[in-house]
This record gives sequence, C-alpha cells and structure tokens, in this order.
Amino acid sequence: MDWTNVAAHWEANAENWTIYSRAGYDIYRDALNTPAFLELLPPVAGLKGLDLGCGEGTNTRAVAKLGATMTGLDIAPTFLRYARETEAQDPLGIAYVEGNGETIDFPDATFDFVTAFMSMMDMANQRQVLKGVHRVLKPGGFLQFSILHPCFVPPSRKNIRDETGEAVAVQISDYFDEADGKVERWTFSSIPKEEAATLKPFSIPRFHRTLTTWVSMIVEAGLTIQAFGEPMASEEVARAEPVVADTRVAPIFLHIRAGKN
Ligand SMILES: C[S@@+](CC[C@H](N)C(=O)[O-])C[C@H]1O[C@@H](n2cnc3c(N)ncnc32)[C@H](O)[C@@H]1O
Repeated sequence: MDWTNVAAHWEANAENWTIYSRAGYDIYRDALNTPAFLELLPPVAGLKGLDLGCGEGTNTRAVAKLGATMTGLDIAPTFLRYARETEAQDPLGIAYVEGNGETIDFPDATFDFVTAFMSMMDMANQRQVLKGVHRVLKPGGFLQFSILHPCFVPPSRKNIRDETGEAVAVQISDYFDEADGKVERWTFSSIPKEEAATLKPFSIPRFHRTLTTWVSMIVEAGLTIQAFGEPMASEEVARAEPVVADTRVAPIFLHIRAGKN
C-alpha cells in the first residue's frame, strides 16, 4: 500500500477521529501517552519544531504551549481544517501544512526538533521518513516520536483477564510480520457501545516493524538514539481510568528520542 491509499484511509477517519478524540474518548492519549511524551521531551521554549502527522493538532498545541514555534504537517485535509479552525479561534502561532511525511518539503536544517505522536507506524516508508527528518533537522537537533510498542503491540495483542476483569497478562503474536498496510478496524473503546454501533470503525493501515528494524532505520538515517520511554499508568491513573490499566502489565506505547550530530 502506498501513501495515496494511506491518505484516503486517514481522510475517511478524520471527521469522527477529531470529534471523538476532542470529546475525551482517546483516553490512552490524554491520560497516559501525551503526558509521558511531554515529560520525556527536552525543553523546547524558543525552538522551531515540526509535528509530523499532526492530525487535528491537539498534541501540536501541547508542544506550542511549552513555548515552541510549531509547524504541523499531515496528509489528511479534514484533520488540517479542524487544526486550522482551532488555531484561528485560539492562536498559538502554529502553521499547518498539507504534505506527506515521506517527502518532507522543507529546506535542509529548518527545524530544531521534530515530533511525531503516534504517526510513524502509520507511514508507509518509514526509512524515507527518517532520512527526511534527519535532513530538515539542524545539527544538534532531535526527533522524538511515539509508536505502538513493536514488542507488545505487534499486529495482534490480547489482554488476558482474571475473573474480576483485571488484565493480568498479555498475549501477542505475529511479531515478525512486517506486512505493509495491514488494515486495522476499531473505534475508541470508551465510546458507549450503542453509540459506537452507529459509527463506521476507523480503518487504519498499519506498517508494523520489529524493534530491530526500527533501530536499524534510525541508525541508517544518521540519527543517534538518546532516550526510550515506555509509559506505564500509575496506580492512581489506572484507578481513575481503568481502560489504561493494561499498561501496568506491558506497555502499549514506545517513545524514542534520537539526535542529529
Ligand atoms: C494516529 S493519528 C495521530 C494524530 C496526532 N499526531 C495525534 O497524536 O493525535 C496518525 C496521523 O498520521 C497521519 N499520517 C499518516 N500517514 C501520513 C503521511 N505519510 N504523512 C503525513 N501524515 C500521515 C494521519 O493522517 C493521522 O493524522
């Protein structure tokens, strides 16, 4: 599957994804993943950043609020329309551009840093994406990105629960299956069942890579790994948002920061 096909899937997802994530149904993102990502992020105040696969812009805005001057790039026009509307209502100086992360159209050494929240495993040619990121980073700059954890959320992950419903183990399979554009269909699990039944599930082409492949692609692009993060919900967060409690058994997300020398 190539990027045009990927773009069509995301454009079809964009409306409901924006409505439901902004209504608070992307609990993994809001309660766990984004806070952990921002904790790992070095200080960005005064820096120029690119957010790759920015979607409707909530995470781009979170980084802009830390004092960075942000550009958000995405392949799906509907996401960008929502992102620009929010920027117009409550400006944070963010520019949004439509584009493909595989052919980033900015001059060399434009950005101090690049972020990519949960978008790189959705891009068809990650090798190319990482090379482009290296090119647009200034020397000394960094990329920080989050992906579905390649080891614990390969194409198939199932929670094993005890009689009380608590996740006690995780069953995974197909770790070595790097099939391109395997389409996964789901909606945010916290949307009430009756409402979810009325929605067309998201359809997400995924480009799973093993951890070895990710590390090789990063190194090949000329980047040096600086930090890993594997967010785990605290007991308090898991109590408040039980849906994320399974990250206490094994992580769902992997955060990677890598620098350009
Ligand atoms: C899971 S969503 C994450 C959106 C946003 N970063 C967030 O955290 O809410 C993945 C995003 O990647 C974008 N995307 C997928 N392939 C892309 C590509 N080749 N170039 C740019 N964006 C892409 C999709 O349109 C979508 O907005």
